[in-house]
Amino acid sequence: MSNERVYIFDTTLRDGEQSPGASMNAAEKMRLAIQLEKLGVDIIEAGFPAASGGDFEAVSNIAGRLKNTQVAGLARASKADIDRAWGAVQHAVNPRIHTFIATSDIHLKYKLKMNRDEVVENAVEAVKYAKSFTDNVEFSAEDGSRSDRDFLCKVFGAAIEAGAVVVNLPDTVGYAIPSEFGELAKYVMDHTPNIHKAVLSVHCHNDLGLATANTLAAINAGARQAEVTINGIGERAGNTSLEEVIMALHTRPNYLPMETNIMTEEIYPSSRLVSMITGIIVQPNKAIVGANAFAHEAGIHQDGVLKNPMTYEIMKPETIGLNKNKLVLGKHSGRHALRSHLKDMGYDLSDEELNLVFTKFKELADKKKHVVDEDMEAIVTEEILRTPEIFSLEYQHVSSGTTVLPMASVKLSINGRSVQGAGYGNGPIDASFNAIAKLTDTESELLRFSVSALTGGTDAMGEVTVRLRENGLIALGKGADPDIITASAKAYVNGLNRLEYLKTHPVEASQFM
Ligand code: KIV
Ligand code: ZN
Repeated sequence: MSNERVYIFDTTLRDGEQSPGASMNAAEKMRLAIQLEKLGVDIIEAGFPAASGGDFEAVSNIAGRLKNTQVAGLARASKADIDRAWGAVQHAVNPRIHTFIATSDIHLKYKLKMNRDEVVENAVEAVKYAKSFTDNVEFSAEDGSRSDRDFLCKVFGAAIEAGAVVVNLPDTVGYAIPSEFGELAKYVMDHTPNIHKAVLSVHCHNDLGLATANTLAAINAGARQAEVTINGIGERAGNTSLEEVIMALHTRPNYLPMETNIMTEEIYPSSRLVSMITGIIVQPNKAIVGANAFAHEAGIHQDGVLKNPMTYEIMKPETIGLNKNKLVLGKHSGRHALRSHLKDMGYDLSDEELNLVFTKFKELADKKKHVVDEDMEAIVTEEILRTPEIFSLEYQHVSSGTTVLPMASVKLSINGRSVQGAGYGNGPIDASFNAIAKLTDTESELLRFSVSALTGGTDAMGEVTVRLRENGLIALGKGADPDIITASAKAYVNGLNRLEYLKTHPVEASQFM
């Protein structure tokens, strides 16, 4: 007998984007959606179209572009929200409207100020209205895990009767314990008479660090859709992480005999992309995709792994697409080889884009012995996904040390005109930022600064992310370079360009207000 199928519903672009500081621009969302399709997720929740003009446009662009994947738009149980959601997803190959209303007594009393009958009526009306646009309607019972079980089954039964093909049981506040959540999923399966007409889905948050465990317990009890995000990003402590669920199913087929459509080799590239786009660095000890997930420090472990990797490794790094320090191309590689390698990585570039990337690749190959996939990703992200530039860094020189006042002289191009100046600071990065702020006449506040190494070794590219705020607008800036001071200056300039872009694009800016 063949294994049963679990559908993977990715909400990185919706719940994931609700992570503090994870806002993505339209080009970044599109790039991620394309990668998620390559990864093989079944449904992409691309956003909450009623939330902002930016969200609506992003969902609509993604719906129009993807070739195989279902695209969902979230909507509260109201006609206005459902109209917006449908407006945004209608051109998808298989558009889904995902409508929700809370079902727990605490939400009914304090948030909705409705009684249970009103909630059922609202849910039914919303599902029927959504169904007038598409057959593919999902209904979610927000705060389901803290709802009365029988009422939950009643709402699900009514939603299915009204036409919902998926009913979703969220652990909205991350409160459930695996045995309890598994039992709840089983209860729903056993006590919702028409459940066989729909797929039971689960959506868990990670407030107690149990999102993956809860999701697996529910799958064990009969749920066949898992709502997840890459790297587990999401509201507060995040959502169930896609890579953890997939690798648990993959690694323990005897315990969980399920199939998905996920290409596991695309897990690591997807994780890298999300981290690069959102600026949220993956914690080193994160399961599956953390930098240390496959690193063996203890001598006893290293010895065992050398003798037979299975002594301490339950998964192979290659399975998730982690080809450690795979040599990409040498310094003498040509344009053609670069194009074909980038294509393998999922980047189909125009001639003009290839020229830009090729120049940067050559510059890097001169500085760094081995250029690996992660380096190329950073270059493509910087050169191709970048916001139109008003400011660009032409030159930077810093002097710093234990006995001198750190100073930076910087030359920028501003709208094509070169300007130069100097700044002092607590260290060389602070000095550079001060010089750049003076030259650009900007007054942004630096909310976050992080630096990490893209690959191992002292010649590794440093990747810097900054988060800037000016007049209520927030933008992330990213920069990569073997010199972390230069990477920092690039990230700062990139953040300023994004702030300028938001000032002149109110639709996208509305996401940040
Ligand atoms: O956590 C939650 O309850 C949600 C719903 C909208 C599905 O994100
Ligand atoms: Zn959620």
